[in-house]
Amino acid sequence: MFYRLIENLRCPDDGNFPMQINVIKIKKLNQFKSKNIRSQIPHCSLLCGRKMQFINNLKKLPECKECYSDYILEGYFTCNKCKRRYPIVKGIPNVLPSNLANLKNSVINHKFITHKISPNEVISNEIKREEMAHHNETAIDYDDWWVNHPRSQIFYKRAVKIWKNNLSESNKSIIDIGCGSGKCSILMAKYGYLIGLDISLKMIEILQKKVFKNGFIVDCVVGDAENLPFYDNCAKSATFWGVAHHLPNRIIAYKSVKRVIEKGGNLLISEPNIKRSYIPFAIGKIINFPYYIIRSFLNLIRSKKLEASKTHITKNEVLLNLNIEKKILNDLGFDIIYSKTRWFFGIIPILWLPKKILFLIYKLFMYFDIVIEKNILKEKGGELCIIANLINK
Ligand SMILES: C[S@@+](CC[C@H](N)C(=O)[O-])C[C@H]1O[C@@H](n2cnc3c(N)ncnc32)[C@H](O)[C@@H]1O
Ligand SMILES: [Zn+2]
Ligand SMILES: [Zn+2]
Repeated sequence: MFYRLIENLRCPDDGNFPMQINVIKIKKLNQFKSKNIRSQIPHCSLLCGRKMQFINNLKKLPECKECYSDYILEGYFTCNKCKRRYPIVKGIPNVLPSNLANLKNSVINHKFITHKISPNEVISNEIKREEMAHHNETAIDYDDWWVNHPRSQIFYKRAVKIWKNNLSESNKSIIDIGCGSGKCSILMAKYGYLIGLDISLKMIEILQKKVFKNGFIVDCVVGDAENLPFYDNCAKSATFWGVAHHLPNRIIAYKSVKRVIEKGGNLLISEPNIKRSYIPFAIGKIINFPYYIIRSFLNLIRSKKLEASKTHITKNEVLLNLNIEKKILNDLGFDIIYSKTRWFFGIIPILWLPKKILFLIYKLFMYFDIVIEKNILKEKGGELCIIANLINK
């Protein structure tokens, strides 16, 4: 993790801020040589983690070069209030709340477990543990399915452009909640310091590899979307790319986002739509028919689980309704600035053509989709996308 993360983190159990950092091992990175980031070094926004001082108390703005180049590989955070410790292992801090964390490794003092857990909380924790286990198990080929396929590359680039056009210039952070292996995090990282948070360590580790390889300034954090371990008003934007529909109680997560983003900041959700048309999926079934036959045959011979059936869908997922999500966000004090359902042809999953040809096909699909979205699609798109501005804190 970079020092810049310190000004963003708070204790998820009691909200204490800032937490004390104990550094054991550092690795020097030179992200500023990479073409993937802005050439200008941004300074810390509220508190300089390297100096452990609030910017307002300093006579002049700190030189924050090291806050973005010294990468803390091993260490831990300590909350001075509850005395809990949060480990940083291989550069990734684990800031899960105590009800989800592996207590044995992260606790030096048990007195923080003071509240009785309600039945709802028990069920909700079970779902989260299932999500964590499922994504840890399937992380290994998540990118093959959802990230590297030309369909995702083309359609998410387009969506990130729309998000970027509604982003403020402030120096605050961007938080990608449920970032997974970072499909959208790395597209958004050009526009500011980005933190990817996910409940699955295995997914986050894949993102971290991309950060090292491509020189992004992106921090990777293990945490819970419904109990964000971030300090009030530390972010200019928070995004859920296919995540809200995995959560036991997404309203709690939206409330957590409301606390974390600054007034005027924005929230994006891009989630599967309950009113989607099933025509493209039917077309997909027909197009992929030869593929399914060949794969079943091969798998009979190899007696291996049919690869194509493993679609990374968990049993906790629900489809969302555009108008209901808009109403929830409105009631929480957000102003909707963009709301659409997207993806008609683009959602057709073609599994068996060479990548170069697929790129051409999906580019064509995208242009068709743009026209269809404007004139016919209305509420029938595969995915709903909302960008909302926080006007009332
Ligand atoms: C469908 S994947 C989307 C990943 C990524 N946003 C993308 O667009 O590729 C859903 C992600 O949500 C994460 N997730 C599920 N429940 C979560 C929770 N309670 N807190 C944080 N992340 C969670 C999963 O681990 C998984 O990486
Ligand atoms: Zn700094
Ligand atoms: Zn604490």
